[in-house]
Amino acid sequence: MIINKISIEQVIASEILDSRGYPTVETTVVLSDGSFGTASVPSGASTGTFEAVELRDNDKKRFFGKGVLNAVDNVNSKIAPKLIGAILSDQSIVDTFLIDLDGTENKAKLGANAVLSVSLAYAYACANHYNMPLYRYLGGNLLNCMPIPMMNILNGGVHADNKIDVQEFMVVPVKATTFRDALFTGAEIYHTLKNVLKEKGLNINVGDEGGVAPQLDGTEEALDFIILAIEKAGYGPGEDVKIALDVAASELYKNDKYTVDNVQYNSDQMIEYYKNLISKYPIMSIEDPLAEEDWAAWSKLSEAVDIMIVGDDLYVTNTKRLQKGIEYNASNAILIKLNQIGTVTEAAEAVRLADDAGMSTIISHRSGETSCTVIADFAVAMRAGFIKSGAPARGERVAKYNRLLQIENEVLCTL
Ligand code: PGA
Ligand code: ZN
Repeated sequence: MIINKISIEQVIASEILDSRGYPTVETTVVLSDGSFGTASVPSGASTGTFEAVELRDNDKKRFFGKGVLNAVDNVNSKIAPKLIGAILSDQSIVDTFLIDLDGTENKAKLGANAVLSVSLAYAYACANHYNMPLYRYLGGNLLNCMPIPMMNILNGGVHADNKIDVQEFMVVPVKATTFRDALFTGAEIYHTLKNVLKEKGLNINVGDEGGVAPQLDGTEEALDFIILAIEKAGYGPGEDVKIALDVAASELYKNDKYTVDNVQYNSDQMIEYYKNLISKYPIMSIEDPLAEEDWAAWSKLSEAVDIMIVGDDLYVTNTKRLQKGIEYNASNAILIKLNQIGTVTEAAEAVRLADDAGMSTIISHRSGETSCTVIADFAVAMRAGFIKSGAPARGERVAKYNRLLQIENEVLCTL
């Protein structure tokens, strides 16, 4: 029997800044053979109520309470001493150890930011130890598909300082046969959108995810500009390129009513609103069309339309909530965000459960990101159908897309 004597030698965390200029956690795990892995965690703005806890210091004198020194300290003084010396083992064993050490349902004690940074850094360290790229280490040797990018080219909601209620307007190049073609199609449309807005004297400054954030009257005007940009870029709306929305509807829901473009709707009226929108525009997917606890309305909408209905805040990458969604027939797709749940293993379990239920999976960034490209590798490893990494602009967004270009070159596969 061969005994693997490689062990964990160091686990070190520190504060770095995310793409919005707020602190986040970065961790490095070093193994006894010198292999190491470094990873950092992202942060959301339109977070779901049921997400794992992102531990913030709440010291108002520092970063408006958003410091993560406690999370960093949890890695350095609570997790590290218990991991150092441990023999190299499966990702799931280390993740289960982290889950047990935290001991809460939602990572409230150590913080999902602390826990995830260690989980990810460990995965990278192991991949390096085995001399494999991360996607190969997590996904094995039978990888044969690249995710289709859903590129958020127009930002609204809490990601932008404009009056547009819908949070994300994405283009999805469904006809492209390679990831490269899909990405470049999206980038051409993005630039064309900037040009058409500029011609109309509108602002082309960008929001948190790199999409433009003009002052428009509302959802339909935004969609009209996007259709125009797709056409002017030389593509057929609905044929070459479809549209996906993230409504992030929990943000629009108060006292049992949704407010979109200054109009109030109850749940049934929202379903009618979507049916009408889908009849007018080539929309292939709507994420969080309804609030995170409006389960019955989710089922009704899923029954009423035949596009992709995606649960983000609804499921928060949590298999318990996903199981409920499967029972309710609430949606036919799930958004997967590693930091909503806090470990690589649990996120992979959510993907597996969704796969088994015949649902589509979309691996996603957060609106606050770092240059860490883990979601690119994770998407390929999980054989996810789609990836969301914002606009094809802004370094922290493009880093993931460029990583996918590299991976595509390595695996030489088609969409
Ligand atoms: P968030 O937004 O990262 O601000 O939560 C992304 C999303 O809702 O998909
Ligand atoms: Zn979302």
